[in-house]
Amino acid sequence: MTKTRVAARLRALPPYLFARIDELKQEQIKKGVDVIDLGIGDPDLPTPPHIVAALQEAAARGEHHRYPSYAGMLALRRAAADFCRARFGIELDPSSEVLALIGSKEGIAHLPVALVDPGDVVLCPDPGYPVYATGTRFMGGEVYPMPLRRERGFLPDLGAIPADVAARAKLLWINYPNNPTAALAPRGFYEELIAFARKHDIIVASDLAYSEMYFDDEPPPSILEIPGAREVAIEFHSLSKTYNMTGWRVGFAAGNRELVGALGKVKTNVDSGVFEAVQAAAIAALSGDQACVEEMRRVYRERREVLCGGLAAAGFDVLTPRASFYCLIANPPGFTSLEYAGKLLEEAGVVATPATGFGNGGEGFVRLTLCADKARLEEAVRRLRGLGKT
Ligand code: MLT
Repeated sequence: MTKTRVAARLRALPPYLFARIDELKQEQIKKGVDVIDLGIGDPDLPTPPHIVAALQEAAARGEHHRYPSYAGMLALRRAAADFCRARFGIELDPSSEVLALIGSKEGIAHLPVALVDPGDVVLCPDPGYPVYATGTRFMGGEVYPMPLRRERGFLPDLGAIPADVAARAKLLWINYPNNPTAALAPRGFYEELIAFARKHDIIVASDLAYSEMYFDDEPPPSILEIPGAREVAIEFHSLSKTYNMTGWRVGFAAGNRELVGALGKVKTNVDSGVFEAVQAAAIAALSGDQACVEEMRRVYRERREVLCGGLAAAGFDVLTPRASFYCLIANPPGFTSLEYAGKLLEEAGVVATPATGFGNGGEGFVRLTLCADKARLEEAVRRLRGLGKT
């Protein structure tokens, strides 16, 4: 009898959302369509030159060619702690409360290895970044979706979580500024969340990948600013979107030292750290001039006006982001998110992400990114207008 080669946990998993979208896009390109890709949140702008120069200089030095330290160079962890002090007013011990990651996705995927036993409940936002749920399922954990609804500002209703679920829950994920909804969480929400987590003995994992992408309001807070958070929370930071470094794979985790240490222990067993030249570049990013970050915000603010302003003026029901670079558009009546994203691709050559790719709670919307220049966004608006408003 032949054995099934691929494990049940993988067989049960649909293709990774953005891998599937990429396939559909390639099919259109093969047909000769001039595709405008507003699917994945991958900045089209280059990494700022001082960061590239730091990599080049470090890559030429032999001392960086050997295995890096597992937790990351102390200089990087210090730079991360200094960044967090300057930005959020929090004190972190670089040697025990900060851990380098091969991009925040890596840390997010590995956290359940450190924390989740089979049968443990993990509370995941719905819609939410797919890795929260997948990482949980890989460990035999049970995903309990927390619906994010437009009428609640896309914040989970903690009071609606049944007492028996809260009692069994081990871990809760949040992500503000939010992907895919672009919502922000007020400080009061974080306070309520920390009280809830402490009451039910639940670990909070906060994905702060979009912390620097804000356009109108006060900078979004870190959960670690909230009194009591240090006992229950771990936070994931990414350099990908802030410094246009998605391809470099570098981020860091910060927070409760037991949680950071547990994740670090997993990583000693599965990877050998971040190439030190990339770490040197990350140090240059975090401790260098932050004018490039202000420039990033200026560019996206302008693009937001073109895309969201243009679509709103054409009568689309568009949720203009106050943070992150994601714009949700409501589907026209009679369309599911998947159908509407298919229509946008096939009839307008515009790649959109069905928000249901982030969970059933995303039904009703497709997501567009601001990751194309103004001329392409204007063209996208022109094509969508041609399809008719929602
Ligand atoms: C997205 O488009 O949702 C993100 O770019 C995915 C990611 O950061 O991995």
